Amino acid sequence: MAERITIKSQTQLDKMRVAGRLVGETLNLLEKLVEPGITTYELNHEAEAFIRKNGGIPSFLNYNGYPASICTSVNEQVVHGIPSKKVKLKDGDIISIDCGAIVDGWHGDAARTFSVGSIAPEVQKLIDVTRECFFLGAEQAVEGNHLVDIARAVETHAKEHGFGVIREMVGHGIGTHMHEPPEVPNYVDIRMGRGTRLTEGMTLAIEPMISLGTWRLVFADDGWTASTADGSMSAHYENTIIVGKKSAEVLTLVQ
Ligand code: MF3
Ligand code: CO
Repeated sequence: MAERITIKSQTQLDKMRVAGRLVGETLNLLEKLVEPGITTYELNHEAEAFIRKNGGIPSFLNYNGYPASICTSVNEQVVHGIPSKKVKLKDGDIISIDCGAIVDGWHGDAARTFSVGSIAPEVQKLIDVTRECFFLGAEQAVEGNHLVDIARAVETHAKEHGFGVIREMVGHGIGTHMHEPPEVPNYVDIRMGRGTRLTEGMTLAIEPMISLGTWRLVFADDGWTASTADGSMSAHYENTIIVGKKSAEVLTLVQ
């Protein structure tokens, strides 16, 4: 992890735009493939092939020993689910897919939660609110605001719906490393004060992780998979953004 928060130059931001676009396109491809019967192994295979074909390197692969190119977290799994031939999606599931790529030395990182077949209305609500939490947080990612403004926006919206805000995992700075300072929490804690003041050209991964129940996590024996402690469904929505003077620019969302 880099030691300090870095402000990126226009040339560097252009490289992050390229990496971000590739991650966004990869997630768009995966969204089309998600349907009952597909395995998370196949999704991983397609993602890795697409990233490499387009001149990228999957950043998750071998990161601290992580064994795949994407994270596939099904239902109560919050993050870092490992793709497997044994995990076949079925009607009524939800799947959070997290994807990262490096292009020309610069990182993009993003996640979405997709429905598989038809899902319960309250679960659809969870997915929608988690995405809204990201956009409300990103609205605060402007010069002069502080990290707490992002955290407050995310937490307030999730709590209005009675949902749990995961606390043990946070967003992060991003650039030539996937994880750079600062940490970007999704909840307000008195101990963090206002947090870092934001300035134009900082690049952040804002990533609300929200559950229908508790915010507490349990970790699987595989050393990676984090699930809600009460088994409640959970959603994740992440984009890499550039802090702007008046508004943030989202790099990993491709229409
Ligand atoms: N997108 C995740 C994050 O923001 C990274 C996945 S962790 C990995 O922290 F080990 F799988 F790479
Ligand atoms: Co991230």
